[in-house]
Amino acid sequence: RMNTKKITTSSQALDGLLGGGIETRTMTEFFGEFGSGKTQLCHQLSVNVQLPPEKGGLNGKAVYIDTEGTFRWERIEAMAKAVGLDPDTAMNNIYYMRAINSDHQMAIVEDLQELITKEPAIKLVIVDSVTSHFRAEYPGRENLAVRQQKLNKHLHQLVRLAEMYDIATIITNQVMARPDMFYGDPTVAVGGHTLYHVPGIRIQIKKSRGNKRIARVVDAPHLPEGEVVFAITEEGIRD
Ligand code: GTP
Ligand code: MG
Repeated sequence: RMNTKKITTSSQALDGLLGGGIETRTMTEFFGEFGSGKTQLCHQLSVNVQLPPEKGGLNGKAVYIDTEGTFRWERIEAMAKAVGLDPDTAMNNIYYMRAINSDHQMAIVEDLQELITKEPAIKLVIVDSVTSHFRAEYPGRENLAVRQQKLNKHLHQLVRLAEMYDIATIITNQVMARPDMFYGDPTVAVGGHTLYHVPGIRIQIKKSRGNKRIARVVDAPHLPEGEVVFAITEEGIRD
């Protein structure tokens, strides 16, 4: 994994699990049930990519592709203040895009090459959530083949962007909680098998007590096994 750079999550524990943070040239998937913190992590990372390297960032900008309408500028403002960034500058450094359906979502990603070429400071591309439109538009077993085919094409485009432009891509994927899920086979989780064959790092997030969350890395031989606890606070993601 040569020449990859890292973006801090603002949780030392989670950074430790990831070998320093979210890495460039790689697609990282956050998956877990509703309210597990996937969207909060995306907000935090779109702020943190802007930090100077000595504070765990890349002096970069972010593209945030929102498919569910859950992005909140107020949250960016609060998180930016809490890490010592000027909130207005931080908001200006995020290219927000609302994807209204799966074709639109795919088209946005197809057009990103052009934007990134013009704006090489972009070091992070987020798709939150990557699966929701595809699941809604191609439901059930009868649509499995076309859903997989389209989603796989989309995911590989994101992987290619990461590799070509030395950026980090993050995708989120809501996966319903099951009693056996955390230690069971995550590839059998709802929708999970679709993303399984795509290269990248998969991070499973589980709710814990109160604002605590548990994260673990799935299927990454180069990262240590184990799980860590982090918190979602008013300031953002923390230990
Ligand atoms: P889905 O998109 O529904 O699958 O969930 P998710 O995994 O994206 O969850 P999300 O990141 O939206 O996390 C929601 C949790 O974050 C909430 O249950 C809150 O506990 C916490 N949260 C969200 N916004 C705030 C905020 O402004 N302040 C604080 N302190 N916590 C927040
Ligand atoms: Mg969400």
